[in-house]
Amino acid sequence: VVAFFQPKRLAGQKVLVTAGPTFEAIDPVRGITNHSSGKMGFAIARAAREAGAEVTLVAGPVALPTPRGVRRINVVSAQNMYDAVIPLAQEATIFIATAAVADWRPASASQEKVKKDGSGTAPTLAFAENPDILATVAQSERAHSGALYCVGFAAESHDLLVHATAKRARKGVPLLVGNIGPATFGQDDNALLLVDAQGHSELPRASKRVLAQQLIEQIAVRHPDGAK
Ligand code: CTP
Ligand code: CA
Repeated sequence: VVAFFQPKRLAGQKVLVTAGPTFEAIDPVRGITNHSSGKMGFAIARAAREAGAEVTLVAGPVALPTPRGVRRINVVSAQNMYDAVIPLAQEATIFIATAAVADWRPASASQEKVKKDGSGTAPTLAFAENPDILATVAQSERAHSGALYCVGFAAESHDLLVHATAKRARKGVPLLVGNIGPATFGQDDNALLLVDAQGHSELPRASKRVLAQQLIEQIAVRHPDGAK
């Protein structure tokens, strides 16, 4: 059973949240993105703020309103998100990576719109891998020393517990949160699987608003100076 939401639980903490999809340009008029709505990340930013934290939200392209009292930085590509997050992670005490970051980008975006050449053959795209924002932050000095607590999310289509457990180890984060299917993109409710060093537990299906509050409470409990 999850403890109820305690207001001001994160007073004095600096929380950094990534949210939404990224958009990877192909040319000036086209790009590749994904179905992330940003709703869960925005709800988490709001709940962290309501818990008394100073909150910075680095958001990919979504049309959601900025939660009250939250500093929002808009980005487009995974590289933009990385460039925004790395310096902010130097000051944060909690990093929550909810963004659906594109794993790959077109290797070289065309400066001009790609035109049909009339031959009926389609162009091919070459891809380059994007930097892993969460893994980079989780491997930082501050994360290792316990000054920065990192939380990852996992989007999986199957075998959630197995993949989430492996992902937690691979990313080197103390807490990895999985979305329990079916696909939750754009929905207003969700259910979460929490995987940490002790094992796993579930936050049962509820609105993203309530789940965000419960998750913030769970992060506060696990955070080094949160066991109040
Ligand atoms: N993440 C990130 N930067 C990336 C890719 C992922 O910060 N370039 C973060 C996500 O925000 C999420 C976590 O890493 O918190 C896991 O993302 P996910 O896509 O599930 O994992 P990947 O490591 O990219 O593995 P795969 O997509 O192959 O399952
Ligand atoms: Ca991925």
